[in-house]
Formats: sequence, structure tokens, C-alpha cells
Amino acid sequence: VQRVDKGTPEAPKSVYEIVDKRADQPLQKEKRAGIIVSAWPLFYNTMFSALPRTTAAQAYRAFLGLDIAKSQGLFPIANEPVDYDDRGVTDKACASCHSTLEPLAYPFATYNGIQGGKSEWSTYDPNRITKYFVKQFPKMASMPTNGFLFGKPVKDLLDWAKQASESDAFLIATVNDYYKALIGSELNAADKTAASEHAILVAELKQSHSVEKMLHRLIDTEAYGAP
Ligand code: HEC
Repeated sequence: VQRVDKGTPEAPKSVYEIVDKRADQPLQKEKRAGIIVSAWPLFYNTMFSALPRTTAAQAYRAFLGLDIAKSQGLFPIANEPVDYDDRGVTDKACASCHSTLEPLAYPFATYNGIQGGKSEWSTYDPNRITKYFVKQFPKMASMPTNGFLFGKPVKDLLDWAKQASESDAFLIATVNDYYKALIGSELNAADKTAASEHAILVAELKQSHSVEKMLHRLIDTEAYGAP
């Protein structure tokens, strides 16, 4: 999608158009999963990582509101972490988070960061691990490309993104973003009125899938109206 400015200086109007190609977004069309794997996170978060833990953790944090670094959203998976790249994550002190993080990150490992030539940056490559990392980390030859989100299996990153976008966590995180932007602070869950109004906003978004409708509800809330 790209934004196109239409209209006049007096009456500005932006429209969003679906485009097949953009020079700065080289990812194959059938492997796109929105901004989770646009060039930005692949470039800056995956970079040269064999297993892109940071990319997965940041998607989880930014879009689902769950920060593993703060021990949020932990769904430990049995027999994880395996430690395919010899980082020592099987240690007890690490496994509490990495038993969730590693299976969350496997589906990201077929998406290039900035290794390879420029023609490969931010593209999908099913052989990425074999090509660039197995020599250094032999165990990676048996690393899966499927994973787990919220303790449930995901086939690949498209499935990851689909399940994420259909989750309550995504609705709550979306409402939280706008809530913070418009009200100026995060929801105070101890405030019963605010908490119940917030729940109504989440329900509205779930039902209508319309941020615009949710925002109309938001400005009717007491939290918004009260000084
Ligand atoms: C509180 C949860 C938590 C614990 C405990 C934890 N990690 Fe992590 N780790 C993370 C998260 C989350 C990331 C991804 C970075 C981010 O976005 O915060 C990460 C990233 C990493 C990375 C990838 C860094 C990179 O630059 O790609 C390595 C390696 C790692 N952890 C190793 C360890 C080891 C070894 C231990 C134990 C000594 C450990 N972690 C303990 C949550 C944790």
C-alpha cells in the first residue's frame, strides 16, 4: 500500500492505493505480511541474525502489546529452546523467556536482513539458513521454519501474521495505541470506569474492524471528556 496525496492545499486528501511494486520494498508479493516484514524491520531488526529473535520480539511488542523482555506474553513450548545457534539459551536463566521467543522467531528466519548482496536484502529465501548460517552453526540445518504464537502452532510467517491479526491481543494493543495518543496516558486499569470504557472500545473494534468507529466511541468516553 502507498499513500497518495490528492485534493488541493485547501482541502487536502490522502488516499491509500494498493501497489504491486515499490523499489524500496523488494519482498516477494506472496510472502508479504504487512509491516511485520517490510524492509524496515528486516533491515534494522534482523540485520545479520541467523535466528531473528529481535524482529519477532519487536513484532510481538509493537503489534500485540506483549514485551517478552518484561516477561509478558510467555507461552513456553515443550522441548524449547533448542539453541540451534549456540547462544546458551538453554540455560535455566534464559529458557524462561526463550522457550517462548525461539518458536516465535523460527518463521522469521526465512526472511533476509542485510546479508547477501543488495539484491537479496529484505527478501524471502527458503534456503537462507542453509546458505548463510549452517556452516557456522551446524545444528541450524534442522531448525524448523514453522513455530508457535500464543502457544498455538503457526505454519509460517503468513500464518503467524494472520493469527496475530485475529487475536484479542492485537485489538487491545490497537486500542491502547490510540487511547494513549488521544488521552495522553495509558489506561489506568484501577479506574473502573476507564477500564469498562476501554473494554467497550475493544469490543467495538472486534465487531466493526473499524478504527474510525472505535475512535468515535473513544471521544464519547468519560476518560476522554474529563479534564
Ligand atoms: C526476560 C526475558 C529474557 C531472558 C531471561 C533472556 N532473554 Fe534473551 N532475549 C529476550 C528478548 C525479548 C530478546 C529479543 C530482543 C528484544 O527485542 O528485546 C532476546 C534476544 C536474545 C538474543 C539475540 C540478540 C541479538 O542481537 O540477536 C540472544 C543471543 C539472547 N537473547 C540470549 C539470551 C541468553 C544467553 C539468556 C540467558 C543468560 C537470555 N537471553 C535471557 C528475552 C530474554
